[in-house]
Amino acid sequence: MTKQHTEVDKRRTFAIISHPDAGKTTITEQLLLFGGAIRQAGTVKGKKTGNFAKSDWMEIEKQRGISVTSSVMQFDYDGKRVNILDTPGHEDFSEDTYRTLMAVDAAVMVVDSAKGIEAQTKKLFKVCRMRGIPIFTFMNKLDRDGREPLDLLSELEEVLEIDSYPMNWPIGMGKGLEGLYDMYHNRVELYHPEKYGSEERFISLNEDGEIPAEHPLHQDSIYSQVLEDVELLQEAGNEFSEELVMAGELTPVFFGSALTNFGVQTFLETFLQFAPKPSSHKTKEGELVSPYEEEFSGFIFKIQANMNPAHRDRIAFLRVCSGTFERGMDVHLARTGKKMKLSNSTQFMADSRATVQEAVAGDIIGLYDTGNYQIGDTLFGGNFNVSYEDLPQFTPELFMKVTAKNVMKQKSFHKGMEQLVQEGAIQLYKTYHTEDYIIGAVGQLQFEVFQHRMLNEYNSEVIMTPMGSKTARWIDPEQLDEKMSSSRNILVKDRYDQPLFLFENNFAMRWFADKYPDVELKAKL
Ligand code: G4P
Repeated sequence: MTKQHTEVDKRRTFAIISHPDAGKTTITEQLLLFGGAIRQAGTVKGKKTGNFAKSDWMEIEKQRGISVTSSVMQFDYDGKRVNILDTPGHEDFSEDTYRTLMAVDAAVMVVDSAKGIEAQTKKLFKVCRMRGIPIFTFMNKLDRDGREPLDLLSELEEVLEIDSYPMNWPIGMGKGLEGLYDMYHNRVELYHPEKYGSEERFISLNEDGEIPAEHPLHQDSIYSQVLEDVELLQEAGNEFSEELVMAGELTPVFFGSALTNFGVQTFLETFLQFAPKPSSHKTKEGELVSPYEEEFSGFIFKIQANMNPAHRDRIAFLRVCSGTFERGMDVHLARTGKKMKLSNSTQFMADSRATVQEAVAGDIIGLYDTGNYQIGDTLFGGNFNVSYEDLPQFTPELFMKVTAKNVMKQKSFHKGMEQLVQEGAIQLYKTYHTEDYIIGAVGQLQFEVFQHRMLNEYNSEVIMTPMGSKTARWIDPEQLDEKMSSSRNILVKDRYDQPLFLFENNFAMRWFADKYPDVELKAKL
């Protein structure tokens, strides 16, 4: 096996998806602690302790004012090189959050066990499902009183329409949490082993799948409830199938508590056992490029702008799909055919350790960008001449009318609009006839970045008038009749001149669907 082959096989690249507050940051920190990438909890968020992981990334961040530290986190564990890609939520939610999911080979879904499946989890899950990547579930906050585990599993199956397989099962919860009945490893993991007079966290189950009779937990009514649940699951639940997990049709479910670091290591180890190696990627022509292919190639899935007015640069994040990326190598930009020399100052990787000079399939590299790159761009080495398929378009939910503040500066306004739209920072729509500009985004942050960049990079002050959230649906141009437009929707065209309606709300959309039953209303992802 070549060195490249061995290196590729070590990579495990995934994103953690969740609704804000479910515990994504907390579990990420625990994973980084296990991987030795940080030494203290609170590091990722930073604000808690003020201590940061010492790395090049921080230096870059200080110098450039770009927050890249947590965009990609890399560590080694059990002989694997793990890349965790951040999927920003809250006010940082943007199309980049979705696009990050295009660059991973698996996803970990963190669910708050008291709240169940929440809105943002659902949205991100949908994208993972569309890609058919394996999804692993971590039911978090077991140290608090939450919903019944069976209830959580059925919600998962009903709301997300994915089959589930519990890898372990909680023995109690909240104050009554005693441990995890780990059917996958045939053991019980104790929450506070000291209560039973031992340091030993794990108790092996006997051949009947039982805790030894002499163990105090054996008499506990909670434990007999667990046995009943497990029996029910064995009879009525799904069977474990690695094949279905790999196809993203069955999600292995782990219970635990990120905050008290309970069940996290078991999760990490089991996850790494199943998590897929870097996958092949499809070109525009529909051919698959193997991660073991020798020539270097990769695609840009995210462009992060510098919000520091002193620096206009951006960072383009590239997922390596094949070959070996070496510092200072020459590459071609597929869209333009332009040759680019990636000097040392234009790249950095998640891991700053001096030994890491190379990246292979599965790794993410950051490229300083002065305006050369767009979302979805392919870079390749040598004469490989490959171009990866376009990233999907996402349905925006928030809209703003936008105009230039200074009518004398129309030229810079239009230039900025065009470039930011092309780059993938924002989506642009125009009304019919009046050609008013409407921009669309999936999160508020996109508007703020847009406004900031228009001013700083294009010297164009924009006025944005919020239109609130709308339900956007595309229709077949052949079916378009401008009379369909009413006071409850706005007819616009996208940058490819495709018509769509922005409905005031779902009621307005249903009313339209009833009135024009033959017109198919299509959402993007
Ligand atoms: P997020 O990145 O998904 O938004 O969530 P984050 O990890 O920041 O966690 C959100 C809140 O939930 C935090 O508390 C965190 O301490 C808590 N939390 C995470 N995992 C667990 C868990 O397993 N059990 C319990 N009981 N709490 C958990 P906070 O008070 O909102 O924030 P902070 O002030 O502690 O940062």
